[in-house]
Amino acid sequence: MLVETGATGARLDPTPATSNGTPTRRLYTGSKLERARTIADLRAMAHCRLPAFAAEYLEGGAEDEATLARNFAALASYRLLPRALVDVSHRDQSVSLFGRSAPLPFAIAPTGLNALFWRKADVLLARAAAQARIPFVQSTMSNDPMEEVAAIPGLRHWWQLYVFGERAIREALIRRADEAGCEALVVTIDAQFYGDREWEQRRFTHPGKLTIGSILESALHLHWIATTLTGGMPSFANAVDYVPKERRGFYESAFWIRANMDQSLDWEEMARLRRLWPRKFLIKGLLNINDVERAARIEADGVILSNHGGRQLDWTLSGLDTLPEARRRFGGLTLIVDGGVRRGTDVLKALALGADAVLVGRATLYGLSAAGEKGVERAIDILREEIDRDLGLLGAQSIKELGPDFLAR
Ligand code: FNR
Repeated sequence: MLVETGATGARLDPTPATSNGTPTRRLYTGSKLERARTIADLRAMAHCRLPAFAAEYLEGGAEDEATLARNFAALASYRLLPRALVDVSHRDQSVSLFGRSAPLPFAIAPTGLNALFWRKADVLLARAAAQARIPFVQSTMSNDPMEEVAAIPGLRHWWQLYVFGERAIREALIRRADEAGCEALVVTIDAQFYGDREWEQRRFTHPGKLTIGSILESALHLHWIATTLTGGMPSFANAVDYVPKERRGFYESAFWIRANMDQSLDWEEMARLRRLWPRKFLIKGLLNINDVERAARIEADGVILSNHGGRQLDWTLSGLDTLPEARRRFGGLTLIVDGGVRRGTDVLKALALGADAVLVGRATLYGLSAAGEKGVERAIDILREEIDRDLGLLGAQSIKELGPDFLAR
């Protein structure tokens, strides 16, 4: 949190609980995972372990990061209105997602390039998801083969498709996801142009070439080197086969895909992809209510209201802003929302506004970057514990009871 300095030079406290900076408060940054009490602790631990260029990739938003900020502001614009004297001795945070019960109301969002944070990161995230019995959405830009992830026992495996290159490529990826038995196809539509995360770019002299300063700074992160770089250079295991042979280096292949995103992607093509996929079909990256209507019209099963974690178009609304109207108008659609979720109360606000579930992106990546698979498990546990406690404090026995009555603006 920012500590502002007033005209007198005195410290203005960021919380009413401190006076002139005392008592001193510090997030936990040691190595005992059980001492991480919040997602913010895991984030602080992640920042200690990661080299700066990787932390920038994890954190950064596009341009002025106004969209990134909006995700938090949208959540903060709602206050909770608890119900008094309700028997909350038993609480149930399970939800029903596509006809199946999920014990927790959130899932792990698709994120690319996870191998920058930990070796075999997609497998670790998926294993933690399987253990918690929540869905894991694997990105087209993931680094572990989709078939290896699909083999994890008990996993609800959703495949996130980026639409790039000629049609045969997307069709091949859809076929593979089908053969791997993925429960859902999530087509992300808000990244046909790559958002400019300027602070990350400043760590590079040319695309894929770190500055000398960044290389030297990375060399100081011995734990990161030992747990991430050993075992060889990762690759975009699921996408690289579709990249021309001479462009298959790590960064090179990513740049080729970025340059070959299908910028002509439209609703007609989306309807065609819908027809190609035999199971649950979701569109990720919608913010406009008219587009939610179009998604319903092409018979998508659900949408993910999202601004890509503030990493694409700057100055947009948050998915949460579109959620109440989407819920009012499209009862039959599964509505998932993401952006800025770091607390149990964030999850409860989204559910009260009508979401069927939320996705968490950075929250579980902080856990991963702090401590690998155990860190992801810790992130999930923290959210589970917060949701459970907050449900009780709110005076609700279950997620099903939540609605706009529990919120005020
Ligand atoms: C993402 N996101 C993303 N989305 C997607 O559809 N495919 C992808 O490959 C990626 N990659 C990616 C990398 C990183 C490092 C981040 C932080 C995000 C967006 C992601 O799925 C999700 O929409 C946001 O992360 C949600 O916001 P929070 O939870 O990170 O605030």
